[in-house]
Amino acid sequence: MEIVIVKGAGFCFGVRRALDMAGEAIREKQLSATFGPLIHNPQVVEQLQQQGVRVVEQVSDMQPGETLMIRTHGCDPAVERAARARGVVVLDATCPFVARAQREAQRLCDEDWQVIILGEPEHPEARSIREHTGGRAVIVEGPQDLDGLQLKDRVAVVCQTTQRMDNLDALVSELLPRVRLLTVSNTICGATTQRQEASLATAREVDVMIVIGGYHSANTARLAEICSEVNPRTYHIERAEELQPEWVAGAVRVGITAGASTPNSAIEAVNAALKQRL
Ligand code: F3S
Repeated sequence: MEIVIVKGAGFCFGVRRALDMAGEAIREKQLSATFGPLIHNPQVVEQLQQQGVRVVEQVSDMQPGETLMIRTHGCDPAVERAARARGVVVLDATCPFVARAQREAQRLCDEDWQVIILGEPEHPEARSIREHTGGRAVIVEGPQDLDGLQLKDRVAVVCQTTQRMDNLDALVSELLPRVRLLTVSNTICGATTQRQEASLATAREVDVMIVIGGYHSANTARLAEICSEVNPRTYHIERAEELQPEWVAGAVRVGITAGASTPNSAIEAVNAALKQRL
């Protein structure tokens, strides 16, 4: 059985940066908690917890003098303000690409555009982008959500960084004939687009595609969705132990890809299990 690992699978720049920041702070005994799970990977979060880093959901769970890390997805600026006001030290690991989307949404709102965020309404990143507009922007998952939305003359689109380019295309095509002025800020992360394209190309060429990453990871879910569109034998797993022998029965080529928050160790474990035929 030939195993093809998609180039660039695994940690992206933003996740690596956040984990490096966390590692350094832990070494200096200066990390008490993260605001929500640092990345969407339960195994990595568990390792952090074993090193004494708590996951908190509200600032009131922090004590003055403790250090709180903001994760790659960013957070409501009010949270940061409340933390500082409480005497908590804030370490901001918001991915710079997410921060750019937050700034763009805020600027466009301030310039009186009706800002539409293309993203998942419940995803922390999409929410943090919206929160940077003081709740003025709306989040849509795609063109289907435009119905029932009162569109203004001047509409601006900003994207959650893990969105699919074809979804942005579809939204723009639907909006164009319906508004007078449309501005599109393509804040989709380059690493996400490249990973999606490379995974799609591999999924087309292999018999079975394995997508590794947290079940709550938006970018991993997107990868699984994209791969399964061209390869029905696509499986999304978090850990090698979940692999089932019948998935690869008769397969000559098996592809592996992984989300931006998937550690190399998880990719290696899947690779090793496949090599030993599970
Ligand atoms: Fe940042 Fe892109 Fe990763 S937005 S967190 S580098 S997927």
